Amino acid sequence: MPSLKSLLSLLSLRAITLALAHNSSNPLLATGANLTFALPTHPVHTFPVGTWIENLAVRENGQIIATDDTHPRIYQIDPYYSHTPALLLHEFNNTASILGIVETTPDVFYVCTANYSSAKLEGYGEAYIYRLDMRPFSSSIKNSAVISKIATLLEAKALDGLTWLEPRDDAEGEGLLLISDFLAGVIWSVKPATGAVAMPINSTYTRSTGFGVNGLKIRNRKLYLTNSQQQTLVKVLINSKGEAVGNYTVLAQGGFTPDDFALDAEGNAYVTSFEVGRNGVVFVPREGGQAVYIPGMAGPTAAAFGRGREEGWLYVSTSGGDYDYLTGKEVTAAGGIVRVQVGGRG
Ligand SMILES: *[C@@H]1O[C@H](CO)[C@@H](O)[C@H](O)[C@H]1NC(C)=O
Ligand SMILES: *[C@@H]1O[C@H](CO)[C@@H](O)[C@H](O)[C@H]1NC(C)=O
Ligand SMILES: *[C@@H]1O[C@H](CO)[C@@H](O)[C@H](O)[C@H]1NC(C)=O
Ligand SMILES: *[C@@H]1O[C@H](CO)[C@@H](O)[C@H](O)[C@H]1NC(C)=O
Ligand SMILES: *[C@@H]1O[C@H](CO)[C@@H](O)[C@H](O)[C@H]1NC(C)=O
Ligand SMILES: *[C@@H]1O[C@H](CO)[C@@H](O)[C@H](O)[C@H]1NC(C)=O
Repeated sequence: MPSLKSLLSLLSLRAITLALAHNSSNPLLATGANLTFALPTHPVHTFPVGTWIENLAVRENGQIIATDDTHPRIYQIDPYYSHTPALLLHEFNNTASILGIVETTPDVFYVCTANYSSAKLEGYGEAYIYRLDMRPFSSSIKNSAVISKIATLLEAKALDGLTWLEPRDDAEGEGLLLISDFLAGVIWSVKPATGAVAMPINSTYTRSTGFGVNGLKIRNRKLYLTNSQQQTLVKVLINSKGEAVGNYTVLAQGGFTPDDFALDAEGNAYVTSFEVGRNGVVFVPREGGQAVYIPGMAGPTAAAFGRGREEGWLYVSTSGGDYDYLTGKEVTAAGGIVRVQVGGRG
């Protein structure tokens, strides 16, 4: 762990104080320095212009698995050697987009796919959940990552964020995938063993007339979710079916247009925001509070902490500029993965 002094010298911080989570054990934030857009980012991998990297997960061995929404492909990216080409793990031929990804047990991941039109704000065709098994994977053997379809969500419109509800003593079966649908404004559940689909949450906090519920994470039996249109990060206690069983707590509202996010070990949130003119990652302290932009980058889509010796790095996937895509303007920035040292750890 680098000393606070070395972290600060890394940052060239303005010595202005801001009431920003003084109570956090996060060493950067505890300094009280004004971190607004102060943290530098470093490229990990940059794709050709026009590539929209939508989400990411980090393997136990530190390698990054990234989803490319537009093509739609899954890549492995080596964060240690930035000149290593991204390794294509799979390319889908029956779906227009691939979005969320989550790891459930070591090196077993699930991804969700969708066919939707962001211009018309409608889904067309089917949405699927696939398993990506990296256990037999070897970089020297072609197609050694095993892909299998486990569920078809006939009524879904645009699956996006994906999280894993661990099995509990009171649960039947072996845990549930929870999946956000930003067009339908609901959360679906899928049982990996059977492919059984349900809709545990349809609430005012998930609904939308466009981009509703987006990122999902679970911590201490609480489901954290963002709603892009409502500009919120909220949390709610859920049961083993994924249903909300408590009141929703609004942790942050306004000043950001949230996409997906990561939680650090303390429960602080690092939320990607494609707010027009202010693309970046915002920090929301675990007890809630104003969303403060810490680093900026073009079109951030999702975030995940590194693992092992990299657990102090926050990796952020980027589209190259959400707003440009949404308005149909020419996209000039390239999508990829950047990293930033945010003080928190995964
Ligand atoms: C922090 O820095 C930002 C960007 O430089 C500035 O807009 C903001 O007013 C500062 N906040 C405080 C509390 O000084
Ligand atoms: C720090 O935060 C915790 C939990 O939010 C709270 O219980 C505690 O009183 C706070 N401590 C200080 C010194 O503000
Ligand atoms: C589409 O992908 C499936 C599964 O990987 C494969 O079996 C099939 O041959 C592919 N079809 C085409 C037209 O490439
Ligand atoms: C979904 O998109 C894929 C890829 O563009 C296409 O092959 C498929 O026909 C679409 N499904 C429907 C039902 O339109
Ligand atoms: C969610 O609930 C609202 C209000 O009851 C309803 O209008 C809407 O159809 C529901 N959405 C889905 C996908 O069932
Ligand atoms: C939820 O909110 C209602 C209304 O404010 C309150 O009466 C109730 O005690 C709350 N429930 C919990 C579990 O906090």
